[in-house]
Amino acid sequence: MSAKNKKRAGRTTKKSGAGTVGAALLDQLVQEAKVVRERAYAPYSKYPVGAAIATKSGAIYVGCNVENASFGGTICAERGAIMQMVAAGEREPIACAVVTGDEGASPCGICRQVLSEFTADMPVVLVGLGSPEGETGRVVQLAELLPLAFRLKR
Ligand code: THU
Repeated sequence: MSAKNKKRAGRTTKKSGAGTVGAALLDQLVQEAKVVRERAYAPYSKYPVGAAIATKSGAIYVGCNVENASFGGTICAERGAIMQMVAAGEREPIACAVVTGDEGASPCGICRQVLSEFTADMPVVLVGLGSPEGETGRVVQLAELLPLAFRLKR
């Protein structure tokens, strides 16, 4: 991320559902999401996506999109990362990064709902590697991406 856009992404701390997330952690998530994006399987859309999720314990889980010939079987990067988190025995995400090759994209509706299953709110960094001005990033809150998330009492 360029210095200018890093500033735009925010050097200050961001509130998550689980506390406060520092800019250094958000930067680390972006780096991990970039790496895993290289492993995306996207032969149909040619739109690789990488995601990384930090948990309260300090661990980071990554995911990339995995497409399927049936199209409907495609799994997004964000959901891939959440599956890794849960399979590792963790359920408390505190921040997420999503990296795409365009000007930056925000998670699809299904991913917003799946992320919301495990926290009411957390910062989500959206990084685009291919905008005309170079790499760009911005931080949004999950609660603003999906207000009034569907929930069941348990
Ligand atoms: N994709 C993601 O991985 N995350 C999103 O939030 C939006 C879309 C993937 C799915 C598909 O493989 C490709 O991007 C084009 O839609």
